[in-house]
Amino acid sequence: MKVKAAVLWEQGRPRPYAESRPMTIEEIDLDPPGPGEVLIEVGGAGLCHSDLSSIEGLRTRRLPTVPGHEGAGTIRAVGEGVRGLAVGDHVVTAFVASCGECRYCNGGRPNICTGSAASRADGTLLSGARRMRLGGEPVHHYSGLSLFAQYCVASASSAVKIDKDIPLADAAIFGCAVLTGVGAALNTARIHPGSSAAVVGLGGVGMNALLGAVVAGAERIVAVDTNPDKLTLARELGATDTFLAGNADVVQAIIEATHGGVEYAIETAGVAEAMNLAYAITARGGTTVSAGLPAPNKLVSYPHAAMVSDEKTIKGSYMGSCLPQRDIPAYLALYKRGKLPVNRLLSGTIGLEEINAGFDRLTAGSVLRQVLVPNG
Ligand SMILES: NC(=O)c1ccc[n+]([C@@H]2O[C@H](COP(=O)([O-])OP(=O)(O)OC[C@H]3O[C@@H](n4cnc5c(N)ncnc54)[C@H](O)[C@@H]3O)[C@@H](O)[C@H]2O)c1
Ligand SMILES: [Zn+2]
Ligand SMILES: [Zn+2]
Repeated sequence: MKVKAAVLWEQGRPRPYAESRPMTIEEIDLDPPGPGEVLIEVGGAGLCHSDLSSIEGLRTRRLPTVPGHEGAGTIRAVGEGVRGLAVGDHVVTAFVASCGECRYCNGGRPNICTGSAASRADGTLLSGARRMRLGGEPVHHYSGLSLFAQYCVASASSAVKIDKDIPLADAAIFGCAVLTGVGAALNTARIHPGSSAAVVGLGGVGMNALLGAVVAGAERIVAVDTNPDKLTLARELGATDTFLAGNADVVQAIIEATHGGVEYAIETAGVAEAMNLAYAITARGGTTVSAGLPAPNKLVSYPHAAMVSDEKTIKGSYMGSCLPQRDIPAYLALYKRGKLPVNRLLSGTIGLEEINAGFDRLTAGSVLRQVLVPNG
């Protein structure tokens, strides 16, 4: 079928993207879903900083590709052997498909499935297939999803059925920012009631980590960002203390305010400075969680002996250490009960032709989550 999609041609074009146009809107050919795959009509696709990092060229991608890895939509066709999903179902997508066979899937950690990691690096679906073409040439898949399009074909393991009472443009954010942020707080950090927590980097992911800390019952919640506008919203969402990053005294100020640091510090900015800050404000015996994704060659370091004698733990958090089939419905239920007000993080919807300008706004930090509605 013919489908309108935002095709990324080149990484590292200069800003503003509204002028350099790293993505153009093309009519691509999309093949029907193969065995174990589904065709999804995209109802909403969020603009995440990970897409921006691909546009910037921070992490190499196979090109051309159609980005977009956070979304929700309607199943329009199912391939052979797909169970549990039917035409007309509403789904939220998870940006890691799971093969169900590798040691990580078998070990209950499908978010770090090796089969999925290999196919993503290769720009294919989990099956190894490429189902998008332009002018006869293959277009690579992105995170096995490629949601910046009217329709996409994805592994059925990436699609989680949801109730139909939530608008798809609102549900989209559950596909990455909510899974990653709330999951980092609840699954990776395992914040406990009455504890102290901090979130460093208050974008779509970080604000969700903050909401996760509230749900977990943290008593003290410190929010840190370089952008003062983010601190105001963080307070409204439940932060008890806010600090502007960037000045030399901020670490000492947080340590003093929290009487020795926080039990859980979550880094969600994707830059080494934020990770260093998160580690520095982690109390003795505490845990530093990082969900940020900087360029692959970026290194962080810490004093080895103090890490040992202070018994600090450092944990990576990919897709919030989530089990999408369990956690997407759980987080949606919390949302419906008013416990996870993620609608406060939505900065409006855009059409396909606005996609480049949308990433200019994300770069500027003037928005949290913009949602692309490609069939609007
Ligand atoms: N681990 C995962 O599974 C996963 C999933 C999605 C996104 N990510 C990554 O998470 C990061 C955040 O994504 P997002 O969409 O929320 O981005 P965003 O652009 O919406 O937010 C980033 C925030 O970090 C702040 N920031 C920048 N430098 C800072 C510093 N030195 N100290 C404190 N704050 C700082 C910015 O002002 C901004 O508010 C990105 O690196 C992204 O690639 C990881
Ligand atoms: Zn994302
Ligand atoms: Zn696997």
